[in-house]
Amino acid sequence: MDIIFLTLCTLCMVVILQILRMMHRQYVTWSKVRHLPQNGYPFIGSSLALIKMSGQERLQWCLSLMNSFKEGIVLEWIAGMPVIFIFKPEFVQPILTSTANIDKGISYRLMKPMLGEGLITSTGTQWVHDRKFIAPTFHTSILNKYIMTTSEKTTILIKCLEREIERNSGNAIDIVPFVGKVILDITCDTAMGVNLRIQEAENEIESVIDRMFQLTFERLLQPWFWIDWLYYLSSSGREFKSVLNKFQKFSNEIMRKKKALRQSQSNHVSARKKKGFLDLLLDENEKTDNPLSDDQLQAQVHTFLLAAYDTTAAATLWTIFLLGNNLEHQEKLHEELEKYSQDAETLADGTKLSQLKYLDRVIKEALRLFSAVPVITRYLTEDVKIGDYILPQNVEVALPIAAIHQNPELWPEPTKFDPDRFLPENSRHRSSYAYIPFSGGPRNCIGQKFALLSMKIVLTAIFRKWRVKSVKTRFDTIRTTISITYRPDEEVFVYFTPK
Ligand code: HEM
Repeated sequence: MDIIFLTLCTLCMVVILQILRMMHRQYVTWSKVRHLPQNGYPFIGSSLALIKMSGQERLQWCLSLMNSFKEGIVLEWIAGMPVIFIFKPEFVQPILTSTANIDKGISYRLMKPMLGEGLITSTGTQWVHDRKFIAPTFHTSILNKYIMTTSEKTTILIKCLEREIERNSGNAIDIVPFVGKVILDITCDTAMGVNLRIQEAENEIESVIDRMFQLTFERLLQPWFWIDWLYYLSSSGREFKSVLNKFQKFSNEIMRKKKALRQSQSNHVSARKKKGFLDLLLDENEKTDNPLSDDQLQAQVHTFLLAAYDTTAAATLWTIFLLGNNLEHQEKLHEELEKYSQDAETLADGTKLSQLKYLDRVIKEALRLFSAVPVITRYLTEDVKIGDYILPQNVEVALPIAAIHQNPELWPEPTKFDPDRFLPENSRHRSSYAYIPFSGGPRNCIGQKFALLSMKIVLTAIFRKWRVKSVKTRFDTIRTTISITYRPDEEVFVYFTPK
């Protein structure tokens, strides 16, 4: 009994000491940022409220912060840590374009169990090396080679949808699993160069990934769980470990298949012509004097799978949902598709896709209203001057993309779906930092062209065949989740009518 009591007391002391040390560090930081406009009480802030909020409420919270602090900058305490929120493009620009302030915030440390030291989480010389190493594998000429595979995967999607529509004749279909599967299938078969036939088999990998993201975000809002051993003792920590294991098995399977394929194709040069990101990475790795280790390669595979899947799937879902809510805009898209395409094959062509200007604006507007990555953060390693303020080093800065995209000073009638905001004549006077779905500056999204290409191929295939109508007739009534990505938190039911 005494031993148990003593052990418990020691445990409590360790936890309390850790928390006190952390608070002391934050106090020192706070003394440097107390001159900034502030919301709420120091140390307490809004963390507890944020944990309980739904995705939509979190966005509303952020919007009200933006609307109350018109200067475009405010200090808020999140999980016992001072975080500077920035809402104005002229303040966003110096943060994103800095070549010194490239460190990510605390949330990215918590993502390391799933992402490893991949391109999203790494920093300093390692990031510079990896970005240079990987960038050529996303060159337009390489992406063009993905078009055929992406079209093949989209043909499977159309067949799956046809079957589901027939089975449910007259009823609406939940598009979430279909879109998730096709995007994952495309990512594996193009970027990884491994055909896993995700759409044709039962698997739980999409829900595993969603749960991993959700648990990581919940952990972020509970600072006592930033202590690893404490987290892994909790039920959330144990669940996280279990889903992480499943994800690791999935990515190990990709690596195993890739290595086997490379072995079997080594004497057949033509078979290796259709190279994806992973092949090119492995090729480069064989040639360079400074190769990535196996762990580093695995981290890049995790990073690219996770970065590509959840964001592109969410963006595609939101685009379909919004078009299903805005039928007059959908009609304009149908007209454009009629004009540029006579049959299925002709659209599987990079030049044709780039002519679909209305589709381009529709996707841009969907990514404005539902920014797939709702917020990004930086940990300042150097002081930054913005406006009249000096933001000191060792402080976390949040760029709430989803809120910036709804700032009424930048976007009149911000909740209205209006693709023509992106016509050249309507964008001319807008700062390019008012619209940052793929971030900006040196750490911008390396996969943005790849994402847009996949989205365009999937969307053209669907809208050339059907007219769609969303069951939820106002987009602000759908339940959303804002964590690492901005996703629907319920089924997205849509009626399909053949054209
Ligand atoms: C609609 C889809 C996508 C959106 C909205 C999106 C958005 C973003 C954003 C906002 C960032 C900056 C993150 C930060 O600063 O912390 C980012 C970084 C990144 N994205 Fe994407 N992304 C998308 C698709 C993709 C795809 C398809 C890939 C890969 C195939 C990808 C790979 C990456 C990587 C590796 C980074 C880190 C780049 C670096 O730090 O050097 N993303 N993305």
